[in-house]
Amino acid sequence: MTTSLLLFLALLFLSQTHGLTPKRAIPDEGSTLQVLHFSSFHRQDPLSWEARVLQTQSKDDARVRYLASLVAGKSVVLTASARPNYVVKANIGTPPQTVVMALDNSNDAAWIACAGCVGCSKALFDSSKSTTFKALGCQAAQCKQVPSPTCAGSACSFNMTYGGSTLAANLSQDTIKLATDAVPGYTFGCIQKATGSFLPPQGLLGLGRGPWSLLSQTHPLYQSTFSYCLPSFKSDHFSGSLRLGPIGQPKRIKTTQLLRNPRRSQLYYVNMIGIRVGRRVLNIPPSALAFNPTTGAGTIFDSGTVFTRLVKPAYVAVRHAFRKRVGANLTVTSLGGFDTCYSGPIPAPPTITFMFAGMNVTLPPDNFLIHSSAGSTTCLAMAAAPDAPDNVNSVLNVIASMQQQNHRVLFDVPNSRLGVAREFCS
Ligand SMILES: *[C@@H]1O[C@H](CO)[C@@H](O)[C@H](O)[C@H]1NC(C)=O
Ligand SMILES: *[C@@H]1O[C@H](CO)[C@@H](O)[C@H](O)[C@H]1NC(C)=O
Ligand SMILES: *[C@@H]1O[C@H](CO)[C@@H](O)[C@H](O)[C@H]1NC(C)=O
Ligand SMILES: *[C@@H]1O[C@H](CO)[C@@H](O)[C@H](O)[C@H]1NC(C)=O
Repeated sequence: MTTSLLLFLALLFLSQTHGLTPKRAIPDEGSTLQVLHFSSFHRQDPLSWEARVLQTQSKDDARVRYLASLVAGKSVVLTASARPNYVVKANIGTPPQTVVMALDNSNDAAWIACAGCVGCSKALFDSSKSTTFKALGCQAAQCKQVPSPTCAGSACSFNMTYGGSTLAANLSQDTIKLATDAVPGYTFGCIQKATGSFLPPQGLLGLGRGPWSLLSQTHPLYQSTFSYCLPSFKSDHFSGSLRLGPIGQPKRIKTTQLLRNPRRSQLYYVNMIGIRVGRRVLNIPPSALAFNPTTGAGTIFDSGTVFTRLVKPAYVAVRHAFRKRVGANLTVTSLGGFDTCYSGPIPAPPTITFMFAGMNVTLPPDNFLIHSSAGSTTCLAMAAAPDAPDNVNSVLNVIASMQQQNHRVLFDVPNSRLGVAREFCS
């Protein structure tokens, strides 16, 4: 992709961010926050449907490469944003300042763009206006958890990479209010400078499991348990939710075991054992699905990737079975990274089931078919994982947000389980 196209996409994203307004004001309540979508598919968007799909795919490519680099323990240079698509509103400081924070369940970090930041977007947190704000010094225990801190002055400063960017931050603390829960002394990176292709939203709420994350910092309050229901990006009424803590979580929900990769403890791995198209269980080599903490192979649930990516042999099997079910009478076309598209609607699409140890999740067509607004094109919204930069085939299956939409997904870390139940939240 050319630099100018990237710049164009970046500018487009900026203009969208500033236009972010909830379509329906459902108040944040108790420990439940409203989840908003960046609305990349919204009709008011000036881009054509095809252009939006291509834009999302290129961001997804970057995101999946980023996840794969986490898995491999290597750093990669990214060419496009790896920005997550769902956000919540949080209040930081005293008196509270509202900050829009991106949800990222594959990341531990918590950061907020602070006033004076060079390279951040417009709306920023002004720490000088908060009476509870505290810059952490180098002596602070938390400073030992950040990547290679420096102690210019007395502040604990550090750089971190996110997607394709480097963010320079001071380690800080302030009260964060999520819905009606106040968390005093919440530790986050106060971003001073952002460089690179990635344009950060106002903040990032990492819901991973590591020492930095919201879960670790609020363990007594939320007991490392949360669930979300992501709204469909087609819906005008964005009323998804993020529910923090064990209270109010579904009691009866199908679950599978959460697996822990000590090398990448922030990622939520599960054991996917098969895939079904219709009632047919596909013939996928077990190595394409097997969990391997050393190589990082396996399957994760990620809220920041839009379209599910499967390792090549798994995707090829899904594609083959899907095309066969749709029938030879319809001509297969492609759109960007999607290679199974048809003109017009598909008469009787089969369901697709992800089979996890102890839990089958059967997706209705809304979770894997995307239609152009004019109805002239329908695509199977999944793809093979992009190759890693060194042409090594990717080993990571990513169950992405489109496939999770309108489902409650429960992350129950103390009991090592991940649950999925159908729930309409669009
Ligand atoms: C961040 O740290 C740097 C270096 O110590 C300092 O100059 C700057 O004022 C700090 N910014 C904030 C907002 O605390
Ligand atoms: C962080 O990056 C900046 C450039 O953006 C550089 O000047 C600084 O030395 C870096 N700090 C650390 C701790 O690596
Ligand atoms: C496919 O097209 C042929 C010829 O038009 C027709 O006879 C057949 O019934 C069609 N099959 C399906 C499954 O629609
Ligand atoms: C999932 O589906 C497979 C194949 O249809 C079946 O054999 C298995 O028992 C199901 N697993 C659960 C937990 O329902």
